[in-house]
Parts: sequence; C-alpha cells; structure tokens
Amino acid sequence: MEKKTVGLSGAFKGNTAPKSFTKSSIKGTKFTIAISSAKGGVGKSTFAMNFALALKSTGSKVGILDADIYGPSLPKMMSIKEKPKSEDGKSLIPINQYGAQCMSIGFLVDEETPMIWRGPMVTSAIKTFTQKVLWKDLDFIVIDMPPGTGDTQLTFAQEIKVDGVIIVSTPQEIALLDVKRGIKMFDKLKVPILGLVDNMSFFKSEEGKNYNIFGEGGVEKVANDYEKKFLGKIPINIDLRIAADSGKPLFEKNPDHEISKIFKNIANKIKESFL
Ligand SMILES: Nc1ncnc2c1ncn2[C@@H]1O[C@H](COP(=O)(O)OP(=O)(O)OP(=O)(O)O)[C@@H](O)[C@H]1O
Ligand SMILES: [Mg+2]
Repeated sequence: MEKKTVGLSGAFKGNTAPKSFTKSSIKGTKFTIAISSAKGGVGKSTFAMNFALALKSTGSKVGILDADIYGPSLPKMMSIKEKPKSEDGKSLIPINQYGAQCMSIGFLVDEETPMIWRGPMVTSAIKTFTQKVLWKDLDFIVIDMPPGTGDTQLTFAQEIKVDGVIIVSTPQEIALLDVKRGIKMFDKLKVPILGLVDNMSFFKSEEGKNYNIFGEGGVEKVANDYEKKFLGKIPINIDLRIAADSGKPLFEKNPDHEISKIFKNIANKIKESFL
C-alpha cells in the first residue's frame, strides 16, 4: 500500500520556490538597510529609530521608512502628526523630523484605524513608499520592517535593492528560533545580512548587578553558528522605553547616554562596512 506522509504538497512547494525579479533601488537613496526580526516585539522599531539617528550623527543623510503596514510605530516614536504633502497628486514628500526624512502609512490614516488589508494591498503600499516618495539625497534609508517572513519581507527581498539587513532579537530560545528562520530566509533570497543585535540583552540594577532575564549569549551564538557578524548588546533600559513612548528617541534626547553610545558604535560599524 502507498504510504502517505503529512507535509507541504508539491504544488505548494512549487509556489514557494524563488523566482527571478528585477530589483529597483529606492530613488534618492544610496544604501538601503532593513531592520528585521522574524519575531514581534523584540525592539526592531526602537532600534531602527535610534540607529538611524545615530547614523545621522556620523554626518550621513538619513531617511526612515516604516514598512510595518499593520502596526506602524514611526508616527508615535518620532512624534509626527502631520500628513505628507504631494505637489503632483502622485508622489509624497517625506516629513522631516529630528533631521531624518520619514514616511509611514501611519501618516495617512488615523492612529487607531486598523489596516484590514490583504497581502497584495500591502505589497502595493510598499511599492508606493519605495517608488513614489521623494526621498532626497539620502546616504542611507533605514527600513523598519514588520515582524515575520511574509509579504513585506518578500517584496523587499525580491523587488527592491536592499543592501543589507540587520536582524534584531532578544536572547531567549523562543526568539532565537525565529532568528534562525529569518537568517535562512534572507540567505535564500540572497539579501546580505550585515549582522545580528542582541536587544533586551540583560537588565542592570541600580546596584550594578546584571540580570540575564532572557538568557545569556544566545544571539551571539546564533551569529557565530551561522557565520554572521555580531553587532552588539543593548540592555533593557527604562530610559530607552520612556524616550520611545514620549516620541523622541533616546539618541535624539540624550546622545551621551550609555545606551546611545551603543547605537553610535553599531552605526559606525555599519557605516564602515559601506565605505
Ligand atoms: N532595550 C530595551 N529596553 C527597554 N525597552 C525596550 C527595549 N527595546 C525595546 N523596548 C520597548 O519594547 C517595546 C517593543 O519595542 P518595539 O516596538 O521597538 O518592538 P518591535 O520589534 O518593533 O515590535 P513589532 O514586532 O510589533 O513591530 C516598546 O515599548 C519599546 O519601547
Ligand atoms: Mg515595530
């Protein structure tokens, strides 16, 4: 008797096989860096805003594109309430905040409006943001990605020239599983991984004692196992969270803060890799 096994059907596997696409650069920008993690809530958006502002402080012109259509964070984290203008009714002018050019779906809809969209609509929004926004003379555009390995990641990997991805994770086992999936996705889609960041790495008490709340060294180990760069550890820090909630990223609020120095260090490392 023929043995049947449970798994993906042949047809479905065929659909997931990589196809060839033409990749377009984001106009008005030299380099595109995506901030990604397969898992949600690990600090991608917090990292993206602070990292972008740290890059800006090195003398680069920087833009931030919030690619999280279902859960945009940029308007709140960067305190932007105005709507982008359009001079020709087709293209959008990004909004300048803290010296960075910014764009988010959140500028176009009310803060509490849920985006109840199917995949193709998301893909189309991403295309608009990468092709119809008048980014101007940027050295780097930092893309704040949504969690997962879905439509947005695929659109960026296949249709947009992404020069590198930074993968952010927290160090617990359950998050690391997603990191491995993320690494494999970008490797498969041939998008260079610039390195891994260990966020919420530990908590330092007022007495100076470190608590490894989510475990220790996990992200660095995955980086080593997969032969990727390890870019650094960012501890759990209340100032970082308060700054994010207040609409002024910590790097902008206090560039001399010990956490801001970590962002600056990572920004320098990334910038060097593009020089
Ligand atoms: N190192 C940190 N220390 C303290 N709080 C942090 C740290 N990193 C992130 N946070 C906080 O954790 C929460 C989640 O962060 P954030 O929104 O950046 O995650 P995300 O990965 O972008 O989430 P999503 O997957 O939903 O897009 C925010 O309240 C943020 O301020
Ligand atoms: Mg986010």
